[in-house]
Amino acid sequence: LVEEAAVAVAEHTRWVDDFPTAGVRFADLTPVFADGPSFSAVIAALASAAPDAELVAGIDARGFLLGGGIARTLEVGVLAVRKAGKLPPPVQTCEYSLEYGTAAIEIPGDWMALQGSKVLVVDDVLATGGTLAATVELLERVGAEVVGITVVTEIEALGGRTRLQKYPLTSLMRI
Ligand code: PRP
Ligand code: MG
Repeated sequence: LVEEAAVAVAEHTRWVDDFPTAGVRFADLTPVFADGPSFSAVIAALASAAPDAELVAGIDARGFLLGGGIARTLEVGVLAVRKAGKLPPPVQTCEYSLEYGTAAIEIPGDWMALQGSKVLVVDDVLATGGTLAATVELLERVGAEVVGITVVTEIEALGGRTRLQKYPLTSLMRI
């Protein structure tokens, strides 16, 4: 599964230099997601990373697309991890720094269903790991158990994996 998906990702990723800021090489997965067989292969491979997950947490914004597909495959629910300011109170917030700039993400702050549940976290790209580390922190704060992290593309030179060593981490393409 992973091998088939990796081929599709390598074939369809569109690389954009100096976006969103100078010096950043942006991995645009739009053509991967827009191609039916590629998207299906990606979802199947990512879902296989944590078959025992009870909930899938997808990170704003492309993690939403992946999270919905994975949750459907695993026949579990999906949680949208939102950029700050989108969810009604009460919320749990975590600030983090990005490869470019800073940001904050949020999850519902009072949702008891998260307590003790096994969560698979998904995003499109792992770069510095700031986004995923912040997401894991939020989920653990409310008592969830992170049973896996999965991404389509891992930019190894930025070392994100070292910040997430406590968790099984699957990536389909490493560059
Ligand atoms: C990109 C990407 C990941 C994150 C990875 O999102 O989609 O979420 O950066 O970077 P990190 O590992 O250094 O945290 P971005 O914040 O650019 O916003 P977007 O998903 O809304 O496009
Ligand atoms: Mg993102």
